[in-house]
Amino acid sequence: MSTEPEAPAPSTAGSPSSGPTRRTFIATTSAAGGVVLAGGAIGGSLLAAADEADAAPAVPTSRICLTVNDIRRTVTVDNRTSLLDLLREHLDLTGAKKGCDAGACGACTVLVDGQRQNACLTLAVRMEGAEVTTIEGLADGARLHPLQQTFIDEDAFQCGYCTPGQIISGVGCIQEGHTGSPEEIREWMSGNICRCGCYVKIVRAVEQAAGEQK
Ligand code: FES
Ligand code: FES
Repeated sequence: MSTEPEAPAPSTAGSPSSGPTRRTFIATTSAAGGVVLAGGAIGGSLLAAADEADAAPAVPTSRICLTVNDIRRTVTVDNRTSLLDLLREHLDLTGAKKGCDAGACGACTVLVDGQRQNACLTLAVRMEGAEVTTIEGLADGARLHPLQQTFIDEDAFQCGYCTPGQIISGVGCIQEGHTGSPEEIREWMSGNICRCGCYVKIVRAVEQAAGEQK
C-alpha cells in the first residue's frame, strides 16, 4: 500500500485559524482511512487542488456607508456582493425578493436615491453614500403607504412573491409621473413580472394611488 508522502505543511503564521489546512486535512484523512490511491494519482490531484485553494488570494472586501430606510449603516462586504444580498443577508431586510437574480423579473426592485433599481444587478460597493428604500421603509409606523393600501384594497396579489417589487416599482412609476393611463402604467411597470397574473389589479392599484396623490 502506498500513500503520498506528506508534504511539509504550509505555515499558518498570520492566518486567522491555526487549524489544519486543506492540504494537511486531505493528506491526513487519506492516510488514516487506508485509502489505496492508484499510483498516487488521485491523491496527487487532490493535494494539488488543496494547494491551489490554500494559495488562493484573500477575497477583497470594502467598507461602505449607506442609508437604508432612513437608518445609516456601515458594513464590510465582499466586493462581489450585490445590493440584494447586502440587504437580505447582511441587514436582514428580506422584503426585496430574489426571483431570477439576473435582472429579468423585478422582484428585487428597490429605490436608490429615489430611482427604481434592480438590487440583484447592483454592486453593494457602488452604494457608498446612497439612500436606499426597500418595502420595509415605505410605511409610516402603522400607517401603510397609499400604494400598499390600494394593493390591499384592489386585492392585487396572489402568492405575494412579486408584491414588494411591484409596490416599490409602482411608487417609482407614480413619482416619475408615468400614470397617465392604464396602458402607460403597464408599459412603465413592464419590468416587474407577476407569475400569478395579477396585472389588471396591479395596474388598478397604481392608478388609484396615483389619483389619490394628485
Ligand atoms: Fe432581480 Fe429578478 S431578482 S430582477
Ligand atoms: Fe404571485 Fe405576483 S402575486 S407572482
